[in-house]
Amino acid sequence: MTSMDVLVSLCKRRGFVFQSSEIYGGTGSCWDYGPLGVELRNNIKRVWWRDFVQQRGDMVGLDASILMHPTVWKASGHVDHFTDPMVDCRECKRRFRADQVDELPWVHYCEATKGNKFTIPAGETCRHCGARRTLCPECGRGELTAPRQFNLMFRTFMGPVEEDASVTYLRPETAQGIFVNFDNVLQSTRRKLPFGIAQIGKAFRNEITPGNFIFRSREFEQMEIEYFVNPHETIDGRPADEHWHDRWIEDCQGWFTRYGLQSENVTLHEHAGDELAHYAKRTVDLLYRFPMGWSELMGIANRTDFDLKQHAKFSGKSLTWFDEERKEHVVPFVIEPSAGVDRALLAFLLDAYREEDVRGDKRVVLGFHPELAPVKIAVLPLLKKRPEIVAAGHELRARLARRWVTLYDDTAAIGRLYRRQDEVGTPYCVTVDVKTVGDPDRGEVGDQRVTIRERDSMEQIRVPMAELESVFDRLLGGAAWTEVAAAYPRAEA
Ligand code: GAP
Repeated sequence: MTSMDVLVSLCKRRGFVFQSSEIYGGTGSCWDYGPLGVELRNNIKRVWWRDFVQQRGDMVGLDASILMHPTVWKASGHVDHFTDPMVDCRECKRRFRADQVDELPWVHYCEATKGNKFTIPAGETCRHCGARRTLCPECGRGELTAPRQFNLMFRTFMGPVEEDASVTYLRPETAQGIFVNFDNVLQSTRRKLPFGIAQIGKAFRNEITPGNFIFRSREFEQMEIEYFVNPHETIDGRPADEHWHDRWIEDCQGWFTRYGLQSENVTLHEHAGDELAHYAKRTVDLLYRFPMGWSELMGIANRTDFDLKQHAKFSGKSLTWFDEERKEHVVPFVIEPSAGVDRALLAFLLDAYREEDVRGDKRVVLGFHPELAPVKIAVLPLLKKRPEIVAAGHELRARLARRWVTLYDDTAAIGRLYRRQDEVGTPYCVTVDVKTVGDPDRGEVGDQRVTIRERDSMEQIRVPMAELESVFDRLLGGAAWTEVAAAYPRAEA
């Protein structure tokens, strides 16, 4: 796997991710998605929505607002419990998460070496004097305060008056928008248990230590599902919530590997008793082998009936489902698969990245699944001095762009153009050349065929222009390259 530095540099150079407000020095905790990044991000969300909402009979979608009634956050427990313990340096005033301060490298002025400054790796002692870290890891001089709880929600004011009565919050998760709409969805769709509501949207957390590129930021996007099940039902002799929890863990893991993550880079982490949130019966995280080590990609929690009961209590509204067979009101249990769009994007990028040696040259490839690739087809003219070739290329781009994200590029020689497309993961390039359009000066007519080059094998075939849509329908619809290519003559690489 590549290092984060290499990936960050590629992301900036090729327009996947930029630092937010970079011309003002950047924010460090927020990121902007560039022309290719926004396509990749939209593809991840579109495929997730299609697979988990549109193609299932037991799911519906929702798009709730970011600003909600402040009591939502009281009921959910976020006002009182969504906190991290933090410590402050009395000298440099920097702030750290108390539970992570020992995981940072630390600055030490060593008495045994006349006060020389050393940066000591996380958790290690000074090899000259044997000291352990007690002072600020950053400046090495200040004492740290005792831990204090710091609420991670961003506060703002609703309306023109900034007073306590108008305080509201930017949502720290999309989940609560689903819980408070449970009855609206139930009444408007006449659903029976089990069924789920999905939502994709922005969330905001005033993280004390954002970092690792887009892994932890203060503004990010979530893809969440709240799947409501009847806790009185059993499936194969087990409580329905336990059955569905296992199903969702399997489905989520399968989804990430289906779209490109190698299975050896994904693992499950079962929360131990002391790690479990107070509302959860069981939580399993999907971890990915990020460059900084195994870290959470998404979580799948059994939240029981906690949220619906809390909102019923605080709102005074009944949030139940009526079981016609048993003639009873049921407060459903909730299974919550919750994924971050940004972390998914980072994992897909990392897993797709590879460097190859091609006849002594380094080739960088993002081997994206075709469904995720930001650009599906690049149309490249072999000679940009020939107006007929350029015109045919533009015409082809416009034709293919009606169906797939297609770009035209004639800003370099063909070898360089191929490498550029490999580096951003474009699965197919179409090249228009002299043979395509012919040469009137020599009395040669064109064969109306173009070359299709496949990213991973770099193989090339000659295909009639009239057949391009049907060929790409198959190639981008899941057919294997070898199968499609077998019907056409090979072109010289
Ligand atoms: N509703 C449950 C919930 O929000 P979470 O584990 O706090 O659970 C779910 O967040 C997912 O959201 C995480 O697994 C991660 O993918 C993403 N996420 C959380 N905080 C994030 C942050 N600061 N930056 C980027 N992604 C984040």
